[in-house]
Amino acid sequence: MKITVAGAGYVGLVTSACLAELGHQVTCIDIQKEKIDMLQKGRSPIYEPGLDSLLEKNQRNGQLNFTANPHHAYSKADIIFIAVGTPATHDGLADLKYIHVVAHSIAHCIEKDVIVCTKSTVPVGTNDLIQEIIDSRKPPNLKAEVVANPEFLREGSAIIDFFQGDRIVIGTNNSEAALIMEQLYLPLNIPIIRTDIRSAEMIKYASNAFLATKISFINELANICEKVGADIQEVANGIGHDKRIGPHFLNAGIGYGGSCFPKDTKALVQLAGNMKHPSELLEAVIKVNNRQQTLPVLKAKETIGSLKDKKVALLGLAFKPDTDDVRESGSLTIVKELLKEGAVVRAYDPFAIPNAQRILGNTIEYAYDIRFALQDADLAIIATEWDQIKHISLKVYGTHMKDPIVIDGRNCYPLEEIQKYPITYISVEGLTFI
Ligand code: UGA
Repeated sequence: MKITVAGAGYVGLVTSACLAELGHQVTCIDIQKEKIDMLQKGRSPIYEPGLDSLLEKNQRNGQLNFTANPHHAYSKADIIFIAVGTPATHDGLADLKYIHVVAHSIAHCIEKDVIVCTKSTVPVGTNDLIQEIIDSRKPPNLKAEVVANPEFLREGSAIIDFFQGDRIVIGTNNSEAALIMEQLYLPLNIPIIRTDIRSAEMIKYASNAFLATKISFINELANICEKVGADIQEVANGIGHDKRIGPHFLNAGIGYGGSCFPKDTKALVQLAGNMKHPSELLEAVIKVNNRQQTLPVLKAKETIGSLKDKKVALLGLAFKPDTDDVRESGSLTIVKELLKEGAVVRAYDPFAIPNAQRILGNTIEYAYDIRFALQDADLAIIATEWDQIKHISLKVYGTHMKDPIVIDGRNCYPLEEIQKYPITYISVEGLTFI
């Protein structure tokens, strides 16, 4: 099939590369000319494990190409995927300006019947709006059927999630379009859930809100565990064995970040409010998360008092491992709080320093080597559980820091390991060793 993907962000690029890998003829379009130039030269603008080789292979064999020309991209496509960003506006709603641009462009450029499939996370009702925009502007003799097809790709494991996802959601009342979409995904052998457009849109928000709730729940419990002398990892293991609860997304830490959970929970709260049905539960989930991101700094103050002029090694800037993305990362909140306290911050991350630098500039120092970050620091805060951080022996803290104090926001080290070394170790599981 001839497929066009609108948007060369992480969802668009992963979708393009994976559909090309399935044997389709894929064109990926983006309005950012520099991004397209870069991709045409074989360089990916994002770090995603496995993506570079898929892009390279499929560009080389002619299955995948990039363009900034809407006519070239849309005129002959059988299916167009919309995978453009829907960033949060100031009031928490999703900004649909890129969706509008693409919908207009599709309407003006198509020269044959087409299925328009929305992957971007959009508020309930948006696909009906896209249908209206296209219908009112397209040539009258052509059919364009809009289908909601939300994505469930995680950054860092997006390629695996594409090929081995838990489900594919197809939202449409048009059986012909549903059949074509089902055929497209058939080779993946992933359960397909066929539903109406609005339910499909809601499934995306509900999934992210549920996972965010699970994280805030376990973080809330971790704080209670600390007070009563229980270990949250033991508790998570104990409850996770119950199939109704499940073992995933029960890692206590510094809260959730990234471009999805914070944005989508806020958008759902906003939507519920607009419908005059405020979501007290999701409001609490967000509140718990905001508090959790500041926890390492609170613990630091409790441990060493004033942080003024204290040297802090911040280990990890990405919102989670295996990505260079720092959007809404807990590390950014930690930096803000540390600077407010007058601390001097030196941050290490194996991939995310360039992105962090764009936001934080010269307010902190950056270290491409973990040992350099730790050198002479008064305090280390682990914010991202990168392998490069987890696999560093606790001995290294002792050899590089004056009097090692480690606040582990991701519970990276097992109990037996901690007990071997003379360091002050404070985790978010209620464990403190001095
Ligand atoms: C999330 C969803 O997991 C995807 O299914 C969805 O497609 C995506 O959002 C999206 O809407 O595009 P992602 O933001 O890439 O994916 O990252 P996750 O792996 O879900 O992690 C989100 C945050 O939760 C991270 O900051 C992570 O550190 C935190 N987290 C996760 C925890 O603190 N504890 C956990 O147990 C799990």
